[in-house]
Amino acid sequence: MSDVIEPATRRARTWFFMGLAVLSVGWLGFTGCSRSEPSTVSPTVAADAPAEYATGRRLFEAHCARCHGVGGAGTDHGPSFLSKIYEPNHHGDGSFLMAARRGVAAHHWRFGDMPPIPNVSDDDVTRIVGYIRWVQRQAGIT
Ligand code: HEC
Repeated sequence: MSDVIEPATRRARTWFFMGLAVLSVGWLGFTGCSRSEPSTVSPTVAADAPAEYATGRRLFEAHCARCHGVGGAGTDHGPSFLSKIYEPNHHGDGSFLMAARRGVAAHHWRFGDMPPIPNVSDDDVTRIVGYIRWVQRQAGIT
Protein backbone atom coordinates (compact mmCIF):
# COMPACT_ATOMS: atom_id res chain seq x y z
CA MET A 1 0.00 0.00 0.00
CA SER A 2 2.62 2.50 1.02
CA ASP A 3 4.71 1.86 -2.09
CA VAL A 4 1.88 2.73 -4.47
CA ILE A 5 2.61 6.20 -5.79
CA GLU A 6 -0.44 8.29 -6.55
CA PRO A 7 -0.34 10.01 -9.97
CA ALA A 8 -0.55 13.39 -8.26
CA THR A 9 2.48 12.58 -6.12
CA ARG A 10 4.33 11.36 -9.18
CA ARG A 11 3.55 14.57 -11.02
CA ALA A 12 4.72 16.60 -8.07
CA ARG A 13 7.95 14.65 -8.00
CA THR A 14 8.51 15.16 -11.71
CA TRP A 15 8.10 18.89 -11.28
CA PHE A 16 10.39 18.84 -8.28
CA PHE A 17 13.19 17.10 -10.18
CA MET A 18 12.72 19.27 -13.22
CA GLY A 19 13.02 22.31 -10.98
CA LEU A 20 16.14 20.86 -9.43
CA ALA A 21 17.65 20.27 -12.87
CA VAL A 22 16.94 23.83 -13.95
CA LEU A 23 18.41 25.20 -10.72
CA SER A 24 21.59 23.17 -10.99
CA VAL A 25 22.14 24.18 -14.60
CA GLY A 26 21.67 27.81 -13.54
CA TRP A 27 24.10 27.33 -10.71
CA LEU A 28 26.72 25.77 -12.97
CA GLY A 29 26.30 28.61 -15.42
CA PHE A 30 26.76 31.09 -12.63
CA THR A 31 29.87 29.56 -11.08
CA GLY A 32 31.31 28.85 -14.52
CA CYS A 33 31.01 32.51 -15.31
CA SER A 34 32.38 33.89 -12.06
CA ARG A 35 35.32 31.50 -12.17
CA SER A 36 36.56 33.03 -15.40
CA GLU A 37 36.51 36.53 -13.94
CA PRO A 38 39.48 38.15 -12.25
CA SER A 39 38.87 38.21 -8.57
CA THR A 40 39.44 40.94 -6.06
CA VAL A 41 41.81 43.57 -4.88
CA SER A 42 42.35 43.50 -1.15
CA PRO A 43 40.71 46.38 0.72
CA THR A 44 44.16 47.40 1.91
CA VAL A 45 45.33 47.82 -1.65
CA ALA A 46 42.12 49.66 -2.60
CA ALA A 47 42.60 52.05 0.33
CA ASP A 48 46.20 52.62 -0.62
CA ALA A 49 45.58 54.32 -3.95
CA PRO A 50 48.17 56.89 -5.04
CA ALA A 51 47.43 60.45 -3.93
CA GLU A 52 46.17 61.47 -7.37
CA TYR A 53 43.20 59.09 -6.92
CA ALA A 54 42.43 60.06 -3.32
CA THR A 55 39.57 62.41 -4.22
CA GLY A 56 38.09 59.82 -6.58
CA ARG A 57 38.26 57.23 -3.84
CA ARG A 58 36.61 59.53 -1.31
CA LEU A 59 33.81 60.35 -3.77
CA PHE A 60 33.40 56.70 -4.71
CA GLU A 61 33.16 55.69 -1.07
CA ALA A 62 30.64 58.47 -0.36
CA HIS A 63 28.33 57.83 -3.34
CA CYS A 64 28.89 54.39 -4.82
CA ALA A 65 30.49 52.01 -2.33
CA ARG A 66 27.30 51.22 -0.43
CA CYS A 67 26.29 49.19 -3.49
CA HIS A 68 29.50 48.65 -5.44
CA GLY A 69 31.57 47.88 -2.34
CA VAL A 70 34.79 49.24 -0.90
CA GLY A 71 37.37 49.20 -3.68
CA GLY A 72 34.56 48.41 -6.14
CA ALA A 73 34.45 44.80 -4.96
CA GLY A 74 30.64 44.61 -4.97
CA THR A 75 27.98 44.04 -2.31
CA ASP A 76 24.53 42.43 -2.10
CA HIS A 77 23.15 45.63 -3.67
CA GLY A 78 25.39 46.04 -6.66
CA PRO A 79 28.00 44.41 -8.87
CA SER A 80 31.76 44.39 -8.50
CA PHE A 81 33.65 46.54 -10.98
CA LEU A 82 36.48 44.02 -10.83
CA SER A 83 34.80 42.01 -13.51
CA LYS A 84 35.76 41.72 -17.17
CA ILE A 85 32.45 43.21 -18.23
CA TYR A 86 33.40 46.56 -16.68
CA GLU A 87 36.77 46.83 -18.39
CA PRO A 88 37.20 50.11 -20.29
CA ASN A 89 36.36 48.51 -23.65
CA HIS A 90 33.03 47.19 -22.47
CA HIS A 91 31.95 49.99 -20.17
CA GLY A 92 33.74 53.13 -21.20
CA ASP A 93 33.98 56.17 -18.99
CA GLY A 94 30.79 57.55 -20.55
CA SER A 95 28.77 54.67 -19.15
CA PHE A 96 29.77 55.80 -15.65
CA LEU A 97 28.58 59.33 -16.34
CA MET A 98 25.29 58.04 -17.70
CA ALA A 99 24.87 55.59 -14.81
CA ALA A 100 25.26 58.33 -12.20
CA ARG A 101 23.04 60.80 -14.10
CA ARG A 102 20.22 58.53 -15.18
CA GLY A 103 20.58 55.35 -13.18
CA VAL A 104 20.74 51.92 -14.77
CA ALA A 105 17.91 49.52 -15.48
CA ALA A 106 18.93 46.07 -14.30
CA HIS A 107 20.25 44.11 -17.26
CA HIS A 108 23.50 42.34 -16.43
CA TRP A 109 22.62 41.11 -12.95
CA ARG A 110 19.82 40.52 -10.49
CA PHE A 111 20.59 43.30 -8.03
CA GLY A 112 17.74 45.40 -9.32
CA ASP A 113 17.94 48.87 -10.88
CA MET A 114 20.57 51.42 -9.99
CA PRO A 115 18.88 54.74 -9.11
CA PRO A 116 20.25 58.04 -10.44
CA ILE A 117 22.80 59.30 -7.92
CA PRO A 118 22.04 62.85 -6.76
CA ASN A 119 24.68 65.42 -5.82
CA VAL A 120 27.40 63.93 -7.97
CA SER A 121 28.70 66.18 -10.73
CA ASP A 122 30.18 64.93 -14.01
CA ASP A 123 33.50 66.12 -12.67
CA ASP A 124 33.04 63.98 -9.57
CA VAL A 125 32.22 60.95 -11.72
CA THR A 126 35.33 61.54 -13.84
CA ARG A 127 37.41 61.39 -10.66
CA ILE A 128 35.51 58.30 -9.51
CA VAL A 129 36.22 56.60 -12.84
CA GLY A 130 39.92 57.47 -12.48
CA TYR A 131 39.98 55.67 -9.14
CA ILE A 132 37.97 52.67 -10.42
CA ARG A 133 40.26 52.27 -13.42
CA TRP A 134 43.25 52.30 -11.07
CA VAL A 135 41.71 49.56 -8.89
CA GLN A 136 40.81 47.60 -12.02
CA ARG A 137 44.43 47.77 -13.18
CA GLN A 138 45.52 46.30 -9.83
CA ALA A 139 43.21 43.37 -10.61
CA GLY A 140 44.60 43.00 -14.14
CA ILE A 141 41.45 44.38 -15.79
CA THR A 142 42.58 46.77 -18.48
C1 HEC B 1 21.71 51.81 -4.71
C2 HEC B 1 22.78 51.01 -5.25
C3 HEC B 1 23.77 51.65 -6.20
C4 HEC B 1 24.52 52.81 -6.02
C5 HEC B 1 24.51 53.76 -4.82
C6 HEC B 1 25.34 52.93 -7.18
N1 HEC B 1 25.09 51.89 -8.05
FE1 HEC B 1 25.94 51.62 -9.89
N2 HEC B 1 24.84 49.96 -10.19
C7 HEC B 1 23.97 49.41 -9.27
C8 HEC B 1 23.41 48.20 -9.82
C9 HEC B 1 22.43 47.29 -9.12
C10 HEC B 1 23.97 48.03 -11.11
C11 HEC B 1 23.80 46.86 -12.08
C12 HEC B 1 22.66 47.02 -13.07
C13 HEC B 1 22.65 45.82 -14.00
O1 HEC B 1 23.39 45.85 -15.00
O2 HEC B 1 21.95 44.83 -13.72
C14 HEC B 1 24.86 49.16 -11.30
C15 HEC B 1 25.60 49.35 -12.46
C16 HEC B 1 26.49 50.38 -12.64
C17 HEC B 1 27.27 50.60 -13.85
C18 HEC B 1 27.19 49.79 -15.14
C19 HEC B 1 26.29 50.53 -16.11
C20 HEC B 1 25.99 49.79 -17.38
O3 HEC B 1 25.90 50.47 -18.40
O4 HEC B 1 25.85 48.55 -17.35
C21 HEC B 1 28.06 51.68 -13.62
C22 HEC B 1 29.04 52.28 -14.61
C23 HEC B 1 27.76 52.15 -12.28
N3 HEC B 1 26.81 51.33 -11.72
C24 HEC B 1 28.38 53.22 -11.69
C25 HEC B 1 28.04 53.74 -10.44
C26 HEC B 1 28.66 54.91 -9.87
C27 HEC B 1 29.76 55.71 -10.54
C28 HEC B 1 28.06 55.12 -8.65
C29 HEC B 1 28.30 56.25 -7.68
C30 HEC B 1 28.30 57.59 -8.22
C31 HEC B 1 27.06 54.07 -8.48
N4 HEC B 1 27.10 53.24 -9.58
C32 HEC B 1 26.24 53.95 -7.37
C33 HEC B 1 23.65 49.93 -8.02
C34 HEC B 1 24.15 51.09 -7.49
